[in-house]
Amino acid sequence: MNRRNFLRASAYVSAGVIAGVTPALAADADIEITAQETGAEISPNLYGQFIEHLGGVIYDGIWAGRGSKIPNIDGIRKQFVDDMKRIGAPNFRWPGGCFADGYHWRDGIGDPAKRPRTYNYWQASMAKGLDDTETNQFGIHEFMHLCRLCGAEPYLATNMASGSPQEFHDWVSYCNAPAGTVSLASERAKNGDTEPFGVRFWGVGNESWGCGGDMTPQEYATLYRRFVTQFPAYAPKPFLVAVGPRGHSKDLDLGWTNGFFDAMQNGHRPRVDGLSVHYYTDFRNSPEKVSTFDARGWYDVIREGLRTETVIEQHWAAMGKYDTEHHTKLVVDEWGVWYRPGEEIAPAYLLSQPLTLRDALHTAVTFDVFNRHADKIAMANVAQTINCIHSLFLAQGDRFARTPVYYVFEMYRNHMRSQLALMNIRCDELKVPSRNGTATMPGLSGSASVNGKTLTVTITNPSLDSPVAAQIRLTSGSIVEGRGNVLTHAEMNAGNTLDRPNEVKLSPLPVTVRGNRTEISIPQHAVVSLELKMA
Ligand code: AHR
Repeated sequence: MNRRNFLRASAYVSAGVIAGVTPALAADADIEITAQETGAEISPNLYGQFIEHLGGVIYDGIWAGRGSKIPNIDGIRKQFVDDMKRIGAPNFRWPGGCFADGYHWRDGIGDPAKRPRTYNYWQASMAKGLDDTETNQFGIHEFMHLCRLCGAEPYLATNMASGSPQEFHDWVSYCNAPAGTVSLASERAKNGDTEPFGVRFWGVGNESWGCGGDMTPQEYATLYRRFVTQFPAYAPKPFLVAVGPRGHSKDLDLGWTNGFFDAMQNGHRPRVDGLSVHYYTDFRNSPEKVSTFDARGWYDVIREGLRTETVIEQHWAAMGKYDTEHHTKLVVDEWGVWYRPGEEIAPAYLLSQPLTLRDALHTAVTFDVFNRHADKIAMANVAQTINCIHSLFLAQGDRFARTPVYYVFEMYRNHMRSQLALMNIRCDELKVPSRNGTATMPGLSGSASVNGKTLTVTITNPSLDSPVAAQIRLTSGSIVEGRGNVLTHAEMNAGNTLDRPNEVKLSPLPVTVRGNRTEISIPQHAVVSLELKMA
């Protein structure tokens, strides 16, 4: 396939035709931002993390072990903590995933030497021949220590499939009961934490339509009521997340969302603060490989990422039929690109993938969708932070690498706690090769947000062929200073490996500021982020 056939489809809209502004630069793209017209606050929680007892995520990834030669803080890999702080990781979802529905929290407390060795769903089901036991060295106290070190909030997923409401409520009391009240609080203190953990986010089950119990939405709704009705009322006020649809299925699984809320209409109607949506860009059943691909594969993956918008809009609309004021928000607590197996960085690191620049662009377009729908989404968690699927890091022994995805988290950090700003991108669509012949997609994608006098703008140019000269224009006010970063590489399939950890990294982007506008050149297959100071 000749990539040159798939250049921008038609002549661009000249910036000169808009509102009488004469561009100093012949622009491919005109981007208009109304910084005064702000929308929802972009919750930091949209940039959340997910870590599961799966392959090399916890053991060898985050948990180096007490006394390990790998630099660590009480067993937790130091480099991991430093890098999580650098991107301001807002939360960690733990312990799963599918693992959560077989996990009994009591196995992970008390003297580490006396903790039981238990069955791990993943080891057993995925990797015959590997050690299939869970050592329970990383339990709730170690997890909370990780959260505190990183300044992140805990988000716990409870065991609904093989656990009971009683076990759930005991876990809540163990975590949140004030010292000197119930026996579980004393037990927590004996195990090293006198102060309550103050866990706010609770996931009631995980994928209950699959590994979490193979239920119908009606069966799940019944169980949900039993699990939350007597939720112990310790502070903080909980944010309860119900299991939602498998957004990556062909029909987006709207049947689950409708079925669940239908079944919740009667009786006391216990609170549902969040509905979990899992949306994987799912290439497991396709020939697409993670690190070797052509232009078609490049565009297919990024276009699938853009579908996140449809998933959000459709489930939001379905929820609105039952909850017109939208008390329940969406929680996209698993997302990422999932390729077919075969390129794991080590046999025991199940589902690990050597990600490339393509996955970084996928991340950027996904974040722009999350930002643009910040009014609907309470939280999102990338699956998973380290050594698994859409990772920010690869780690093995004392070797450690940031994947291209990590740098996108760094570039988008300034959006956190900012107000979404109105952004209008005018540029041509791209006509690109696809699995089905050809397809069209937006020439650029992006989002903008305002925090005081600081305007943050992030833009992705997915084209493999053409850079874009872009003019970014404020509809009112002026820009006094600007700086930018760009993430790209000469090769579309470049990535960072444990042997070559610095192949793909951020570079400064030249930014020209003129009155109410900024001019930049966005290279092909690149993500840029700008920090503009307004007068
Ligand atoms: O992230 C890997 C797995 O994907 C999770 O355990 C499960 O919830 C999902 O199917």
